[in-house]
Amino acid sequence: MDYDSAAAVLQARIRQLAKITDEPGRVTRTFLSTAMLKANEKVAQWMGEVGFSTGVDTVGNLHGWLEAAPDAPVLLTGSHLDTVRNAGPYDGVLGVLLPIAAVELLRASDWRPEFSVLCLGFADEEGVRFQAGCIGSKGLLGRLSAAEMALRDEDELTLEEALAAQNEGPFRPPPLPRAPLGYVEVHIEQGPELERLGSAVAVVTGINAQNRMRVCFRGEAGHAGTVPMGSRRDAFAGLADFGVFAERFAKTTRGLVATIGCVELRPGVGNVIPSEVEFSVDVRHPSSAQLESACAALHREALRICVARALECEWTSVDAMNAVEFGSNLTTALGNAILATGNPLVRLRSGAGHDAMVMTEFCEAAMLFVRCRRGLSHHPDEFVSPTDLAEALKVYCEFLKRLTP
Ligand code: HGY
Ligand code: MN
Ligand code: MN
Repeated sequence: MDYDSAAAVLQARIRQLAKITDEPGRVTRTFLSTAMLKANEKVAQWMGEVGFSTGVDTVGNLHGWLEAAPDAPVLLTGSHLDTVRNAGPYDGVLGVLLPIAAVELLRASDWRPEFSVLCLGFADEEGVRFQAGCIGSKGLLGRLSAAEMALRDEDELTLEEALAAQNEGPFRPPPLPRAPLGYVEVHIEQGPELERLGSAVAVVTGINAQNRMRVCFRGEAGHAGTVPMGSRRDAFAGLADFGVFAERFAKTTRGLVATIGCVELRPGVGNVIPSEVEFSVDVRHPSSAQLESACAALHREALRICVARALECEWTSVDAMNAVEFGSNLTTALGNAILATGNPLVRLRSGAGHDAMVMTEFCEAAMLFVRCRRGLSHHPDEFVSPTDLAEALKVYCEFLKRLTP
């Protein structure tokens, strides 16, 4: 099979997986959902067809294991199989299915590596169900904090309870490979740079720091028709002030992005002044230190607004992840594979978070970006062209062929 036909099979599988969803008509797969279990089964079947032995660990991560020898060093690779709501088909999925396609191609030409391959389909990176991201990779490494284990989903179930139910007993992190060569993640760029530069692939130099907060402003419900405007404690009006401030602050702070993506208004009735608003604040910056001071400034402004409007303010950091820099041999090896396949060596930083941010705590990590149309992601129109899939496959195969433990 040549790269173009392998890319066509890969494209078809990506589309097929997109049909496995918790929400018919759109792509949504969340932590430990029925769709996630079905997606694991489907990907395990494709892994099995090319020689991986498969299993699901105590976190719900899918493992594909290709053993070179019992004590051979292990290359970890993969990405996440969960999605945001109404997602595109490629985010995460590409990083799990592309290595499978690459192994299929190489094994057809008698490739016998001196290293084993562990291909991982993480059970949760997006954090839709419990708000904290990378639960799959953190769980794999045994790095889920007590605060994360206490997070509750919309049914008020804690992460700890969800994992205990999944394992019919207390959660214990899965065993880890003894001699990791490193972790390599292939992922769509989710940004416009590769399209602007006219390149199909890039190595990733690092990932921006991110902090996810959950904030609650509490005021007082009242009659929409009778309470004078001057004496209201309107929680939504507080959020409106804060939202305008957060956008202006991010626009005027170099490198900073801030997003309010989830809002819950209570009691949520048209003729009642909102007594409570709970919302998410997602803030990112290339520098961990500058992110910290930006979050402090946002918190100060939230408190100022609440004092001015006689509201109570509850500000909780749900998931803070430091920036990571990739500069290992693995990144160099990816770069050499890019050059060896005739592609220009483009280096890009990631504004999006990835499991590689967590895996870098366990072993060397590196990432390969693949161009996506208009840089669109977290959107149903997410798309990677067949030629770019073929290019990424070529680079990844070249990387595997050149990798020596
Ligand atoms: O939010 C992110 O950066 C990633 O898609 N979880
Ligand atoms: Mn994503
Ligand atoms: Mn992703």
